Amino acid sequence: MSFTDALTIIGGLTVALYLLRLAWRCWCGFRQYVLSEHWQVDLRTYGQWAVVTGATSGIGKAYASELARRGLDVVLVSRSEEKLRMLAKEIKEEYGRKTRIIRVDFTGSYSIYPAIAEELRGLEIGILVNNVGMTCSDHFSYFLEIPEQKITQVINCNMLSVPQMTRLVLPHMVERGTGLIINISSQVGIRPQPLLALYSATKIFVTYFSQCLHAEYKSKGITVQVKDAAASQCVVPCMVSTNMTNNLKVNCFVKSASGFAREALNTVSHSSYTSGCLSHALQNAALTVLLPDWLRMSTFLIRKLRNHPKVTNYEGSVCKE
Ligand SMILES: NC(=O)c1ccc[n+]([C@@H]2O[C@H](COP(=O)([O-])OP(=O)(O)OC[C@H]3O[C@@H](n4cnc5c(N)ncnc54)[C@H](OP(=O)(O)O)[C@@H]3O)[C@@H](O)[C@H]2O)c1
Repeated sequence: MSFTDALTIIGGLTVALYLLRLAWRCWCGFRQYVLSEHWQVDLRTYGQWAVVTGATSGIGKAYASELARRGLDVVLVSRSEEKLRMLAKEIKEEYGRKTRIIRVDFTGSYSIYPAIAEELRGLEIGILVNNVGMTCSDHFSYFLEIPEQKITQVINCNMLSVPQMTRLVLPHMVERGTGLIINISSQVGIRPQPLLALYSATKIFVTYFSQCLHAEYKSKGITVQVKDAAASQCVVPCMVSTNMTNNLKVNCFVKSASGFAREALNTVSHSSYTSGCLSHALQNAALTVLLPDWLRMSTFLIRKLRNHPKVTNYEGSVCKE
């Protein structure tokens, strides 16, 4: 065999491998975002109750309502008692499910968790949605512009809450041999985003924690079950119209919170790491190509973002002001 023949074979095999990988990815995406609409797992099989943090608005509220619609009783955890009571009433009236409310401010340190543990005692918790999250500021800002106390608040709320809440529910899930923990990360938790330094860093924490947790616990206690025993799912949305994004107009890029939660819950058991919906999966893929890290991290782009004539908000959305 000549040298040219050998090179042709190696080239052919490489192309075939890439095509196979592409075909596999397309199939996984199709299954996760299209087939899942008709091929849903019955979420009640995880357990009677779902716990949702940051449940009173946006994505958390949408998850809580969707979980209730799918037959679970819901524990709503947030900081405003009035909003919690209103949502609990709404869920009871609309879906006839039981609710419990826990008023807590997640910017607090580890001392807030024993009280939450007390409230959750005795409940069969099948699903935990670690959704609560906050940004440092409503515009792109340099790290030193963030007030000192905000640093601890954002870290406590976005990071500490995730392993602490997990620690409260996971032992019983492992004992029962079933459970699901959904962690809401972000597109800016996949790649670093300058001018959102702290927020972006807290979200990569969520992503890594979620992926490692899934690897550690997916097979714990599996005996006859088809689905994972205590599985963890990391959700990495792009833009969703909520208070955090100044309730942006919904379009093919920006999802409504309810639409997002419905589609994201369809992906349960199809993927442990998901963009949540097809539109965001395509945007994530496009951003990887169109906005490579060298460009995202460049001084040029940082200045451009910073000097945008309008105030720019979280994840690049433009505020209405
Ligand atoms: N919106 C997006 O485009 C987007 C994209 C990617 C990722 N995410 C992530 O999705 C999650 C939800 O975001 P969202 O857009 O739905 O936000 P949101 O509309 O601002 O809602 C946040 C929820 O968390 C509660 N909350 C905030 N700070 C809290 C605290 N210190 N203690 C207790 N509860 C607190 C809020 O309660 P109150 O009602 O009392 O304020 C509210 O219920 C976050 O983790 C965020 O990082 C959002």
